[in-house]
Amino acid sequence: MTRKITRVLVTGALGQIGSELTDELRERYGRDNVVASDIRSDESSPVVTGGPWVVLDVTDPETVEKTIVDNRIDSIFHMAAILSATGEKNPQLCWKVNMDGTLNILETARRNNLARVVIPSSIAAFGPETPRYNTPQETILRPKTIYGVTKVSGELLCDYYVRKYDLDVRGLRYPGIISSETLPGGGTTDYAVEIYYKAIEEGRYTCFVKKDTMLPMMYMPDCIKATMNLAEADFDDLVHYSDFNVGALSVTAGDIAESIRKHIPDFEVDYEPDYRQAIADTWPTGVDDSAAREEWGWQSDWDLESMTEDMLRKLRMKLLF
Ligand code: NAD
Ligand code: SER
Repeated sequence: MTRKITRVLVTGALGQIGSELTDELRERYGRDNVVASDIRSDESSPVVTGGPWVVLDVTDPETVEKTIVDNRIDSIFHMAAILSATGEKNPQLCWKVNMDGTLNILETARRNNLARVVIPSSIAAFGPETPRYNTPQETILRPKTIYGVTKVSGELLCDYYVRKYDLDVRGLRYPGIISSETLPGGGTTDYAVEIYYKAIEEGRYTCFVKKDTMLPMMYMPDCIKATMNLAEADFDDLVHYSDFNVGALSVTAGDIAESIRKHIPDFEVDYEPDYRQAIADTWPTGVDDSAAREEWGWQSDWDLESMTEDMLRKLRMKLLF
């Protein structure tokens, strides 16, 4: 049976996805019914000023429990994490936040009989032995980053809670997310956002992966749509739970630069790959998302050209006016 989402906690709400997801959740369920949280605060952010807000470290189980009980929360969107590039610089912190944090969220949800928990996974769950093209839903999961290790472990843990405790847990393997509102927080795919900012601010960009590096990407409106469509799907229709492949774009860094040049013809890009190239080389170029299409009707709305036009329009408003 699928229970209704009524009182929501968002963790990691000041992050790239959490900030826009909080906005959408407040629209859907009512401003006062969505408690945003993060380990840090930012008084200038609408996430903090636009509704209930608490500072919450997800690695602290007592405060997680108290926040859920005090705010009568029935659903959690767990966005707090350490991403791939930052994770390689501090693997112990990545494990602590991503694994202890996820376990605390699942345990609190189990003890308090919550209606829904949404916990994202990532294309980082894949590794060099995974088929790189049209990567299947069921495939080899042997990531080489600590972030990827936590994402595979997280998927398995979430599925365990579904089967062992009948907890309603769901999640997507997000591709690299491209957005105009909040900068990304230390991932390998950050270049795909930075390139738009630099195109407008400086007319040139030094990209930290090679021109022909192709990765799966998705524009934020599609990311929010996918998250909400999965969160609100009928649980009985799901065969998978926490590990849905979701596809939108498969583009190289050079493809993004070329699409920007259609609007800014003088835009210059050079390529100086760093340690993040080795991470990108272990991830797929695109994924087979037929399970998401069949089980909860996934389809993307944005292609590279429409995304670039929208990104440049929004960033011009934000950066130049
Ligand atoms: P982000 O790095 O932008 O935001 C993460 C937030 O978590 C930050 O605001 C940070 O302050 C917070 N945080 C860190 N440690 C914390 C702690 N101990 N307690 C509470 N908050 C803490 O990340 P994001 O891009 O918004 O990612 C959200 C989720 O989506 C993560 O699970 C991430 O792995 C996944 N994901 C993101 C992408 C992407 O391209 N953005 C792609 C695949 C998967
Ligand atoms: N965008 C994320 C990262 O690069 C993928 O999970 O870490």
